[in-house]
Amino acid sequence: MNKYKIAVLKGDGIGPEIVNEAIKVLNKTAEKFGFEVDYDEALLGGCAIDATGVPLPEETIAKCKAADSVLLGAVGGPKWDNQPGNNRPEAGLLGIRGALGLFANLRPAVIFEPLKNASPLKAEIIGDSMDIMIVRELTGGIYFGKRGKFEEDGVPAAYDTEKYSVTEIERIGRVAFDMAMKRNKKLTSVDKANVLDSSRLWRETIIRLSKEYPEVELSHMYVDNCAMQLVRNPKQFDVIVTSNIFGDILSDEASMISGSIGMLASASLSSGKSGLYEPIHGSAPDIAGQGIANPLATILSVAMMLRYSLDEPKAAEAIEKAVSEALKTVRTPDIYTEGTKKVSTSEMGDIVVSLL
Ligand code: IPM
Ligand code: MG
Repeated sequence: MNKYKIAVLKGDGIGPEIVNEAIKVLNKTAEKFGFEVDYDEALLGGCAIDATGVPLPEETIAKCKAADSVLLGAVGGPKWDNQPGNNRPEAGLLGIRGALGLFANLRPAVIFEPLKNASPLKAEIIGDSMDIMIVRELTGGIYFGKRGKFEEDGVPAAYDTEKYSVTEIERIGRVAFDMAMKRNKKLTSVDKANVLDSSRLWRETIIRLSKEYPEVELSHMYVDNCAMQLVRNPKQFDVIVTSNIFGDILSDEASMISGSIGMLASASLSSGKSGLYEPIHGSAPDIAGQGIANPLATILSVAMMLRYSLDEPKAAEAIEKAVSEALKTVRTPDIYTEGTKKVSTSEMGDIVVSLL
């Protein structure tokens, strides 16, 4: 029987609640599809600061490297707002992405049929379906560029640098082109090439790479236009490839089109097989501990883990189907509509398990 070792980073805020539900679901799929899962918990973010003084202890990196895959909840909260920038919970998240070389972040924005009404967009804009794959570069750009504080004419100033090398652009570009080949063969590369040098290099490099993918229909869009097009006509998109910061922003926007930010899963991949799987939403400290958080983005992240890291595509599909089924009748408060039953975080997890 295949046995997988999963490093579990529950993190802060609603992190532990949602990860617990995802683990329930993973255990059930293991039982059903005949594999074993071993969990190894480690600290990341605010909880790690409290316990060790730093957001990303060495031990956490070691545990993640030793695992077949990593499941992450969310990090951050007001308690750690006064930490210096390089010791904030978020620095731990960026640190683990960097340490594991997770340069490719896949964020699928899909509308589940039963959730069509939960989307703030009109039914005629959404049409029959929406299925966008955002491929976000995750270990470069302004998140990882040179930054600093200094004094300018006696006034405090600060800067961050957006930098991309051709190597970095090519490797994320390949992930996106390969993804487009498996889907509807349409790729939109999003940049700000009318202003930024890094974007002009991005565009040139993507165009050069496109010669290797003659079947993929490539287009380019400025990020401000893309933000607008996502709500004007989301159906025009298949795969979007973009930089770290643009991907951060556009994926939050795309998630809302799908009904709630509580629905969007993500996979962060390196050149190897293992990866890190996390919901795109944050730790939502305002609702932590109330049992009202939506665990579906984390549950769907487990489905992505099964697909991309563990080679268990049938188990992945089963989870996605169970989630879709569950949404027909039950909803957490963020996606609640009349005619459905409002349930708690753990009830939602139990229902998905029962539908598996
Ligand atoms: C995300 C989050 C993170 C990011 C934060 C928490 C650092 O917003 O995963 O999208 O900006 O990457
Ligand atoms: Mg974000």
